[in-house]
Amino acid sequence: MAAGRRRIVARSDALGVRWADRVAALNAALPALEAHRAAVTDASVTPPAYYLAPFHAYPDGNVGWAPALEVEASALAVHAPLDPTGGLGGDALLRTNFMRILREHVDPGAVRRVVDLGCSTGLSTFALADAFPDTAITGVDLSPHMLAVARYRAAERAAGGGDGDGGGGGSSTAATAAAATTSGPITFIHRRAEDTRLPAASVDLVTLSLVAHELPSTALAAIATEAARLLRSGGTFALMDADPAAWAAVPPPVFVLFASTEPWVGEYARLDVAAVLERAGLAVRGGGKNTARHRTVVAVKEA
Ligand SMILES: C[S@@+](CC[C@H](N)C(=O)[O-])C[C@H]1O[C@@H](n2cnc3c(N)ncnc32)[C@H](O)[C@@H]1O
Repeated sequence: MAAGRRRIVARSDALGVRWADRVAALNAALPALEAHRAAVTDASVTPPAYYLAPFHAYPDGNVGWAPALEVEASALAVHAPLDPTGGLGGDALLRTNFMRILREHVDPGAVRRVVDLGCSTGLSTFALADAFPDTAITGVDLSPHMLAVARYRAAERAAGGGDGDGGGGGSSTAATAAAATTSGPITFIHRRAEDTRLPAASVDLVTLSLVAHELPSTALAAIATEAARLLRSGGTFALMDADPAAWAAVPPPVFVLFASTEPWVGEYARLDVAAVLERAGLAVRGGGKNTARHRTVVAVKEA
């Protein structure tokens, strides 16, 4: 394991994440995961060059089993400092607050179809399914391995199982199991977020959760254009991600360490996200801070 990853794992274990146990639990399901990966892979999808660069201290970026099996543990660890009780509820809090802001802008009754771009293993997708029950949700990602875990977790939810945080501790088992009974259909597809091949003007809500800081600005602009294409007139786009303003408080050596595994954060920090969305035909209507470290930007597809 690379030094960067060893540091992340050691830090998460100190927080009580039990990284190895969580990854081992998914590893034990590898035959089922392989079947999901084979079923979801679309061989016609070509990842852009930026996607294949080393990332998060993984030599092949987000591609492969290691990032897919570790991302849930990683989310718990990275977001743990957001939990005011000192527990592992930071990731759940981040998502609950994102959904709260979304529901301030979107009438859940008017939302029938949702697309979650860069859905990874479904952490953001399942939060949407809980917040917008009875909607049809499509999760889009470029990693068939991430999508395989997402499909596996979706099957657990449908069966009323799983604990909603990928391995125990952090979010409410009862709430997740209850939500599983009211969720609409969830589909995961292997596509570039820049080119989902989904029908134009077919979606009420498009989300991009914790993806923008992982993208070159040209890719974010292309994804905003695709989101605008997908949305019906008056539909909503919501981007949730790190708030670069909060990085000013991070000690420089810590930020340098963080940025060393995140090639695009410098570009993201300098980007005028609202201007990118406006150029794509998405009129910014508001948003807000969903944690001390994260912001949500809500925009509407103009007629
Ligand atoms: C940090 S994860 C965010 C996952 C999830 N949305 C969340 O809130 O936890 C970023 C995800 O975006 C995906 N991704 C990055 N670039 C993409 C692109 N151009 N098209 C589709 N997915 C992409 C990665 O594969 C990864 O799974």
